[in-house]
Amino acid sequence: MSDKIKKSQYNLDTDNLKKLELYIDGLEEKEGSLINVLHEAQDIFGYLPEDLQLFISRKLNIAAAKVFGVVTFYSFFTMKPRGKHLINVCLGTACFVKGADKILNEFKVQLNIKENNSTEDGLFTIDTLRCVGACGLAPVVIVDGKVYGRFKVEDVEKVIKEYSQV
Ligand code: FES
Repeated sequence: MSDKIKKSQYNLDTDNLKKLELYIDGLEEKEGSLINVLHEAQDIFGYLPEDLQLFISRKLNIAAAKVFGVVTFYSFFTMKPRGKHLINVCLGTACFVKGADKILNEFKVQLNIKENNSTEDGLFTIDTLRCVGACGLAPVVIVDGKVYGRFKVEDVEKVIKEYSQV
């Protein structure tokens, strides 16, 4: 941990902070690496809370407002902790006309959470996407990066069961 930035300043896991600091210190060019650093930080911590953004802004010497702007601009960055399994329902036009909203709703009902939220047991997070380029398979649901095409409302229960066990 560097002298200038003390770990006690941040309400974050110290080991994870060290990992991230090592990654940042190994970068040749710091200021142009914000997106990569945010990806790495999200991989390590699972999400990008405010304290972590502050740490990154100080390490990279970039204004905190700019870091916050980037985090909120890109949908793949999240400021909320995510569940073990991420369920993404595509709400692009092709998927929407084939009933993606009903699928999303069924996930929300069965998991008893709102969109962009996680279940209390930390197992699932539901989120939405806008067209993932697989319109021929509409409606599309992606779970932990695995694409499920021609998804039906009846598949919701199966998917939840399957991922509850892994
Ligand atoms: S609209 Fe869903 S994959 Fe294109």
